[in-house]
Amino acid sequence: MDFFAYRYTRMNRKHFVKTLGLGSSALWAAGCGKGSTQLGGLPEFDSEKPSRFWKSVRDSYALTQDRVYLNCGGLGPASTVVTDAVAAKSAELQRISETGHAIMGEVRIEAARYLGAETEEICFTRNATESNSIIAAGLDLKSGDEVIFESHAHPGGSFPWLSRSQRDGIRVKVFDPDPTSFAGNLERIEALITPRTRVIQVSHITAPTGIVFDVAAIATLARSKGIWFHIDGAQSAGMIPVDLSRIGCDSYATSGHKWMGGPRGTGILYIAQDRVEEVATLHAGGHSGDSYELPGGIEFHKGARRHEYGTRATELVEGLRVAMDFQTRIGKERIEAYGAERVEELYRGLEAIDSVSVLTPSDPEMRRSIITFKSSKVAFDPLNNALSRDYKLRCRRVTERGLDAVRVSPHIYNSPENCARVVEAVKAIVSAA
Ligand SMILES: Cc1ncc(COP(=O)(O)O)c(C=O)c1O
Repeated sequence: MDFFAYRYTRMNRKHFVKTLGLGSSALWAAGCGKGSTQLGGLPEFDSEKPSRFWKSVRDSYALTQDRVYLNCGGLGPASTVVTDAVAAKSAELQRISETGHAIMGEVRIEAARYLGAETEEICFTRNATESNSIIAAGLDLKSGDEVIFESHAHPGGSFPWLSRSQRDGIRVKVFDPDPTSFAGNLERIEALITPRTRVIQVSHITAPTGIVFDVAAIATLARSKGIWFHIDGAQSAGMIPVDLSRIGCDSYATSGHKWMGGPRGTGILYIAQDRVEEVATLHAGGHSGDSYELPGGIEFHKGARRHEYGTRATELVEGLRVAMDFQTRIGKERIEAYGAERVEELYRGLEAIDSVSVLTPSDPEMRRSIITFKSSKVAFDPLNNALSRDYKLRCRRVTERGLDAVRVSPHIYNSPENCARVVEAVKAIVSAA
């Protein structure tokens, strides 16, 4: 099974982190290409003493110390190197009153490298919802055609299809994700496929409870049946390394402002090179193509960037460049391992508390940096309120599909102590009830 470029297991994690430590200077040097930013202050990673490195990463954020932010699944803060880059580029562009559109082309190359794609396959959007919508609105679907996705899809992933359904009569079919096995999800998808199935979509990692899908296996299934496969990766890029060349999906959407640590209002859409023509360019304008005739037609760019149009806040794309650079320098695999370790600590701590059950998969291969739990003694709302009010822990309520739970989504700016505090707080709240 090959669900993304790097496979991560409980057994090899320690070995892996160690291996990274040995090769860290090479990894560091790898981030020094064109467009990279000086990230002075981050020390070299030392596998014997990783805490110094992670403290420096944490110090790269301007997050308030008045509370602990544990909601990267909702919105990820940008590090100060990112916010400084946005401010500087914005000031520079305002001074000369230019759009800075050339930035889009430069950063496209870096975004392609970051996601394991070709440059022509990358389109910059404003968020994951816009990326999902371009696919849902643009594919050639007729009344009665069927789309399958998981019932835990975020509104940013489901609404574009529901809207298309209302407009064009396509049929939406959903399955409840299986938190216990990759194969179970494949079977649930397969059971819904009919001759009218045109699209399968899954969240790479689900937002409510953090279930990881085996997207490469789903891509193989979809391809074998001639079905378009779209991935909503709002919860994957930046949390785990994503190598689209190995997954084999037709399209992939993500946010820049969650796990990638980019500025708010950034998103990416990938469309496989050989499928670009199948997605209608519903919003077209300057930057969608180079040449046109009046009356006559437009010659669209051959790549996915035909969906970029009009004037854009290019300083945000510059910020996204710096965010990708920042992550690459830290090490995408190292980031993944760090988040998975935090969640493993949370998992063990929360599971041990009387009345608490964890909804996130117990299999470490099926989870990464999201953990969702509930208590049979304290309802999710008062539990979340108490965590926020009494312990200054910013988590998120999960009301989707009546799950009525609390989600914690730690990232690189969270310390092991932050996560231990969640466990201690939940313990205290439920034992006082
Ligand atoms: C799976 C998923 N898709 C889409 C979105 C929406 O993201 P954005 O705000 O970037 O459109 C989210 C946000 O939480 C999400 O979790």
